[in-house]
This record gives sequence, structure tokens and C-alpha cells, in this order.
Amino acid sequence: MEKIAAAPIDHSVGFQQQVHCSQYLVDGKLHQWQGNTTPVYSTIYSENEQGEVGPTLLGTIPDMGTEAAMSALHAAEKAFHRGQGLWPTMKVADRLKCLSNFVAKMKTHRAQVVELLMWEIEKNQADAEKEFDRTVDYIYDTIEAYKNLDRRSARFDKEGGVHAHIRRGPLGVVLCLGPYNYPLNETFCLLIPALVMGNTTIFKPAKHGVLLITPLLEAFQESFPPGVVNILFGRGRKIASPIMETGKIDVLALIGHSSSAVALQDLHPNKNRLRLVLGLEAKNPGIILPDADMDLTIKECISGTLSYNGQRCTALKMLFVHESIVDEFNSRFAQAVDELKYGLPWEEGVFLTPLPEPGKPAYIQELIKDAEEKGAKILNKKGGELTHNYSFPAVLYPVNKSMRVYEEEQFGPVIPIIPYSDISEPLDAMAASEYGQQVSLFGRDVRKIGPLIDTLANLVCRVNLNSACQRGPDVYPFTGRKNSAVSTLSVYDALRSFSIRTFVASKDTPYNNEILETLLNSHESNFISTDYLL
Ligand code: G3H
Repeated sequence: MEKIAAAPIDHSVGFQQQVHCSQYLVDGKLHQWQGNTTPVYSTIYSENEQGEVGPTLLGTIPDMGTEAAMSALHAAEKAFHRGQGLWPTMKVADRLKCLSNFVAKMKTHRAQVVELLMWEIEKNQADAEKEFDRTVDYIYDTIEAYKNLDRRSARFDKEGGVHAHIRRGPLGVVLCLGPYNYPLNETFCLLIPALVMGNTTIFKPAKHGVLLITPLLEAFQESFPPGVVNILFGRGRKIASPIMETGKIDVLALIGHSSSAVALQDLHPNKNRLRLVLGLEAKNPGIILPDADMDLTIKECISGTLSYNGQRCTALKMLFVHESIVDEFNSRFAQAVDELKYGLPWEEGVFLTPLPEPGKPAYIQELIKDAEEKGAKILNKKGGELTHNYSFPAVLYPVNKSMRVYEEEQFGPVIPIIPYSDISEPLDAMAASEYGQQVSLFGRDVRKIGPLIDTLANLVCRVNLNSACQRGPDVYPFTGRKNSAVSTLSVYDALRSFSIRTFVASKDTPYNNEILETLLNSHESNFISTDYLL
């Protein structure tokens, strides 16, 4: 993939170009928003024109409501047209052309999107660039995966005297809601497969990480037929809630918290018709066995707990360490945490960056205080150091069930360490947990690891051996048990999650066979076709 490097920007002079977004995309048109707008601030402080120092104003977005939400819904419904629309019946090759056009245009906006990722959600530059490039790769991979799927469907089966031409068809109108921590990648990992399968979509960016979508509005408008992609800005309760109440959404695709997913689902009057594609919260544990390679374990636990300050659903959110090695682990881990470089996202070699949610440092402090009151100590010197937008990662030990940080998904820089003497302790904790996404298992002895893997695989959906938890590579299944997910995402699985198997059956009679053959030769149907896409 050709990468477009971000032009060097002098960040010492602050945020240079505010983005005042007054447009939204509905029914193929970029409309001018005339109503109220909401300011978008970064928690990174800078000096404003009046010489006051405070949160940096990055721009404004429309504060849209029910009327605009309904217009987007109608546009998406019209484009789907109960399955008769241009998009759901279009030839696969033509849908893919739209997607290829889009990704080519998207790539030209890399520099601005990366810049906004750094200011809006304070992701460090390397990770912001990775998020953009990974998303572009995901789109290319999805195009290839769909061609593959289509090639495999370009055939007839015959069983019990019945010919069948089986494909996967779209589900209808999809409401896409993404998270703030991966505002580009995770949202597009929902939106792109939903589109490619022939669904029409309404998409509302998350509360943080919203301006970075605005450079892409035109690319969406120019690449897809009217009503196929509709993009709105504003609060979920004013946009998503009224849309759900109509009962006209066929798929709720959401990455975020289960409380939002349940609330939205509850508004839908026909729940049996609503398909859910949800990536939700998690409390992934690391289990460190007595014979774990200490250097490797510390390195992986640092990246697992603190990449993007622990604001990842896949982050390691609790570490169970065997009592025989816990002292050594604690002292080395605490020192490694204190050595991590904190700074602004664009600074060279920065790993830790400010937190984009204004209330997050105070929340992290609450968790620390609660744990301390119940007997835990902060092991690292810098742990819990507080500024207006950061709480330095605190390594807490010993943590037990009575503490809030044991139960709550901290989604931020605080690391609870729980000592154990018998492996049944972390296993019981995982079995009792509300979550079941992934686990990291650190150790070497196959007689211990073998049976453990057999149990862990039934408690979560990915067991990472001697490595941090993560979603990627994106071709692997990404899902979870219990409160952690509904449906599976991966380049391959997402195409299935956003579609349904549907087929044409025809009894093996001379009368029907002649019709089928004529259909195949005539190209009258886009569904009945054995053409191959290379
Ligand atoms: O927030 C959850 C993301 O899906 C995590 O993805 O493991 O690539 O950071 P990642």
C-alpha cells in the first residue's frame, strides 16, 4: 500500500486549523447544517486568542436531532428499498468498484486524519498512523475476502434432486456506532463489511474522535449511490434512540459499552428482527505462571496493560501473578512502568499520552483511593501522579475482590496485580467474571499449560500464549463470551455477520434446467451467475 506521510507540522504553536464541520451526509447530498453546534475540545491545553490557557478548541460539529435522524433513516430505507434498491441488487463487481474508489480518496486524507487522531483522542503518532493504515488495509482485505466469497458462491449444488444456488444476501438498514478509542478503525470495521454485503447504513461517530471523520465526508458522497451511507453528528440519545424506536433498523452494529447496546436494543419494538453485531467491554486477565520468562512477560504486560494508556477493550486489565515470583515481577514491572515516556502524542518516542475524556483522571484516582483504603499499595514511584489530563499509571498490589478495580473495567492507566497460590484462583475469577474476551497466559511447562489452555479456551475466545491480548491480525476472529461481544468480527467473519444465506432452489427437471441455463447465459440476474471475479 502506498503510504502518504504526514507533512511535518510545528506542534509547538498549537492546533493550527480548527475544523468547523457544518455538513452532514444524507441521501447522497452534503447538506448544510443550520442548527446548533457543539464545540470539540482536546484535553491538551493551549493558549487561546485571549491569552488564556485551557483545553484546546479543535472545532465544532452539528448537534443534530430527531428530524435529521429520520431523514437519514428514510434515505437508508429508500436506498435499500426492501431489497429492490440499486445497492442491494448491484453486481458484486460494481459494489467493489465503489469501495475501491472510496479507499483511494480516503488515502489522500491520511495526514489530516492522523493529525486529528492525535489532537482529538491523543493517540501517539505511531499508533495514530497505524490506525489509519490498518483501516486502509482492512478495506483492501475486505474487497479480496468478498471476491473470494463470491467465487465460492458462483456454483450450483445438487442434493435430493434439487439444484441450489446459494449466496449471502444483505440484511437491510444498519445503524453503525463506533467507539472513541478507535474512532476510525473500529467504526470502519463495521461500516465497510456492512456496505460490501449490500446493506445501507446510518453512521454516527463517537463523542470523541469525531472531527477526523469530516475530511472523509466528500469521499463517501462521491463513492456511493445516494442513501447508501448516511453520516450524522450529535448525541446518541438524540439520534440513535429515535431511529431505534421506529423498529426500522435491521442490524445494530456497535462497539462500545453493553449498557448503551442494551438501552438501544430495548427501544426496538421488534427485537426478533434486530441482528446485533456488538464489540463490548472486557476485563482481560494476564496469568503469570511460576516458570514464565520474566523479561518477555514484563515486556508483553507493559504493552498489554498500557498501550494507548489501557484504553483498549483488549487491554490486560488485571494481572494474576503466582506468589512464588510476585515480588520479582512487581519490582521489575513497577520500574518498567516508571521508565515509560509520557508526553504529547507527536513527541518522539512517546508511549503514554494525555487522556481524552475530561473526567477520566478523576475516575482513575477514585479506583486508586478505593484500593488503597482496602489495603493495596501503589508500587511505582510515579504511580497516580495527577495533572489536569493525566493520572500516571499506578501499579496496585495486592488487589482483591473487595476493590472496585477488581470488578470495573478501568479502561485507563491503572494496573491491579492479584497474587495467587493455586491456579484455580484465576480460573474461578474468570469463570465468575461478567466478561469473556481474551486471556494472556505466561509460562513454559507444557504439562501445566496444556490442560490450562483447554479450560481457558472455554472461558474466553482467544488464549494468547506468552503475549499481550490484541485484536489483530484482523483476519483472525474477534469476539467474546458473556458481556464482551455478540457476533464475530474479522475480515472474513464480518462479511457473514452482516449478511444472511439466501438461495434459489430449482427441482432437477428438464423444464427448470432449461430456464436456469437460459438465465445463466442471459445475465438477466446478478444473483444467478457463475461468473468469476478475479
Ligand atoms: O478496543 C478494542 C480494540 O478492538 C482493540 O484492538 O487489540 O488492536 O488494540 P487492538
